[in-house]
Amino acid sequence: MTLKSKDLVSVEQLEEREIERLFMLTGKIKRNRRLYRRALDGAVLALIFEKPSLRTRFTFETGIYELGGTGIYLGRDEIRLGTRETIYDAAKNIERWAHGAVIRTFSHRNVQAFASSCRIPVINGLDDLLHPCQALTDLFTLKERKGPLKRLTVAWVGDGNNVLHSLMWASAKTGVTLKAAVPEGYEPDPYISETATGYAAARGTSISIVREAGLAVEGADAVYTDVWTSMGKEAEAEVRRGVFFPFRVDAGLMRRAKPDAIFMHCLPAHRGEEVTDELIDAPYSVVFDQAENRLHLQKALLLLLLKKGPKE
Ligand code: CP
Ligand code: NVA
Repeated sequence: MTLKSKDLVSVEQLEEREIERLFMLTGKIKRNRRLYRRALDGAVLALIFEKPSLRTRFTFETGIYELGGTGIYLGRDEIRLGTRETIYDAAKNIERWAHGAVIRTFSHRNVQAFASSCRIPVINGLDDLLHPCQALTDLFTLKERKGPLKRLTVAWVGDGNNVLHSLMWASAKTGVTLKAAVPEGYEPDPYISETATGYAAARGTSISIVREAGLAVEGADAVYTDVWTSMGKEAEAEVRRGVFFPFRVDAGLMRRAKPDAIFMHCLPAHRGEEVTDELIDAPYSVVFDQAENRLHLQKALLLLLLKKGPKE
């Protein structure tokens, strides 16, 4: 079992069948965390992080360790992608030592450049445009809670950001209906909107953008939000607090979703800003399941990308 693409730079690279396979393996690993504990025996993964992280770093390091490999963490002051040396040169060095790389950085082009410069699998651990590991984990979590994805509707409330972009492609490819409420001027990327809408239409579902939180949430199976100010956009925080205030997710808004709807957030959350404490701590909140599942899904992804046979 492998993936067609060498890398996971974006969800757009994956076929629906591959996502299904990834979810099946994720479930198997989740049921028995000790499976495949020698599968990455002797493998070294470079973990290049130019932005902060709790979940992504911890789950990749733990996952690599649990599969028998080693992760080498390179923080923002070490590589300085494209500044200390070219991205091409950094990638050409790393491919001589490592069997794979995870990159979290600002520019999406830098992730693409790194991946196309080397022979080893490269996983996008978040950039300004995309967060594929998050969105895939989110749909795995949704399926775990609510069953077959093709019957489900997710409401996104907030910024047209990296998490939404990946969620649009992941939803479109798996048959989830997605309704995103975003304020004017904060819409998702036009290329992603157009392609995701196309993939969804081919499956008889839809990806739509609305202007009011209530319109997106009405009748939804899951309500998803994220911070109003993503990493790297801190200078806009004050302006964004004003713009996004009507998009806060609280109990009143949640009541407009289905009675058994779940609340989702990729975390970190700014409690009291995009979401109230009451919601994030509610029994229907799955935010910590999402965080846990990052570990299981990324272990499955590592196995599929590094093409190691499942030696138990
Ligand atoms: N959700 C997520 O990617 O969290 P971190 O930024 O802590 O890695
Ligand atoms: N949109 C957020 C996600 C953090 C996991 C950010 O980019 O900061």
